[in-house]
Amino acid sequence: MSLYTPNISPSQSGRSTPLGHFRDTVHDAFRGFRTENDSEAHQIFREAAGHKPKAGILPQTINPEEETVPGIEHPGSTGVIYCSDRAMANGFSYAASHEWANLGQGAPEVGDIPDAPPRVQSITVPLDALEYAPTTGVKDLREAVANLYNHTYRQGKLSQYTYENVCIVPGGRAGLSRVAAVIGDVYCSYQIPDYTAYDQMLGAFKRLVPVPTALEPENKYRMDLDQLRKDIRTQGIEVVLASNPRNPTGQVVQRDELKELVRLSRESSTTLILDEFYSWYIYPENEAEFGRSVSSAEYVDDVNEDAIIIVDGLTKNWRLPGWRVCWVVGPKNVITALSQSGSFLDGGANHPLQLAAIPLLDPVYAHNEKVALQRHFKHKRDHVLKRLERLGLKVAVPPQSTFYIWLNLEHLPAPLNNGLTFFEELLKEKCIVIPGIFFDINPAHRRNLFSSPCHHFVRLSFGPPLESLDMGIDAIARVLKRAKKEGLHALGHSYKKSLDGASALHHHV
Ligand SMILES: Cc1ncc(COP(=O)(O)O)c(C=O)c1O
Repeated sequence: MSLYTPNISPSQSGRSTPLGHFRDTVHDAFRGFRTENDSEAHQIFREAAGHKPKAGILPQTINPEEETVPGIEHPGSTGVIYCSDRAMANGFSYAASHEWANLGQGAPEVGDIPDAPPRVQSITVPLDALEYAPTTGVKDLREAVANLYNHTYRQGKLSQYTYENVCIVPGGRAGLSRVAAVIGDVYCSYQIPDYTAYDQMLGAFKRLVPVPTALEPENKYRMDLDQLRKDIRTQGIEVVLASNPRNPTGQVVQRDELKELVRLSRESSTTLILDEFYSWYIYPENEAEFGRSVSSAEYVDDVNEDAIIIVDGLTKNWRLPGWRVCWVVGPKNVITALSQSGSFLDGGANHPLQLAAIPLLDPVYAHNEKVALQRHFKHKRDHVLKRLERLGLKVAVPPQSTFYIWLNLEHLPAPLNNGLTFFEELLKEKCIVIPGIFFDINPAHRRNLFSSPCHHFVRLSFGPPLESLDMGIDAIARVLKRAKKEGLHALGHSYKKSLDGASALHHHV
């Protein structure tokens, strides 16, 4: 049964209903909507710098704006930049941002939420903090991070983290880059879909040879540990990279499965890089479980022996993306390597904000923020899921964690059934979402986007405040209504041309 059917037609039988008629009449018009060349949204995507397909895979389209400076190659814009560029082409601006619903937003709301500790409004800046901080970070903050992990995940265990197991980094992506910079020539396994920035990260650090596996919707996007074990053995994988909880599917490997994953790393001598940025965004059914978060740190035996590298920080869990204070937790030997890569990559995190972060790592503070966050975001998740279902967009695999919904559009009639066109249609209604193809790691260069496992998806964020979420769902309802009223031939074309991409660089989604 089509997800779209319930709202288009009172009947689900098809032919004689408005939708049946609607389908018949548009079928011819969209019969050819099968490849990138048929889709205006995809043509616009291909025109953006860095998105030109590689020769030999698809016909080359010459983009004179691309690669005109000797030696400079576009890595391909991240979803963030492309989507904000397209939003600006459709009239988005900072001044008008309140008129827009940004469900593309990869950040949580940063204001007060019910029962959470008050937001930090000011910080003090001692004279010493005007100096560089060490590239591994301020020692007291490193200690506070180690202490929080021990308190939350390692009570009663012999092996405990110390400051020497923690490297403070200026943001999650900086942390991931520092890690990628110290990895030798290895096969690195990752799964699709996953966090968009891994695409550029794996592309920029060329010694990492990316080995993708697609997660299956039928298997609820679960990481298949048996398959991973086999791949490690047969393909010589030495590093596994994954966000857990996972952006964009909202699924999480936890409890026995996570324990098994850590054991797998130990037994097969494989390094696990676990990006745990959403470790607090867990939505328990059971009242007693509010305040529980998820980290592989719980299953590490010896903190200096197990090759588990955890990346996390203030960005999502503390709802402080602007602070740029994050950390990598792992064996001492990894931390000394990260000190070296940090000294040429980024030079370390902001010194005054590292000092200001220390009290935020207090276990009681962290617990209070975590419980408030879980209650508030669970309410938002349930609200959005319910509203989507009423629109006929029931989410088959709802998120158990993160603040993302991985929405499958496959059952909508073409052209609304592809993420890039759905995105363009929503821009006309002042709503931003992220097309699924951005989570297909290395999407622009490998294959025809219509063949991507992420082609039919968009990611919706319930990071913003509830009012924004409602505005966004209203916009989705308008697109569906327009399709019903005007027919599908009214969709899939007449998209605005992009402005100069550089003008959009600063808005984040
Ligand atoms: C899985 C994941 N890791 C890391 C980050 C990036 O964190 P930061 O903004 O601190 O670089 C994000 C942000 O969206 C994310 O989704």
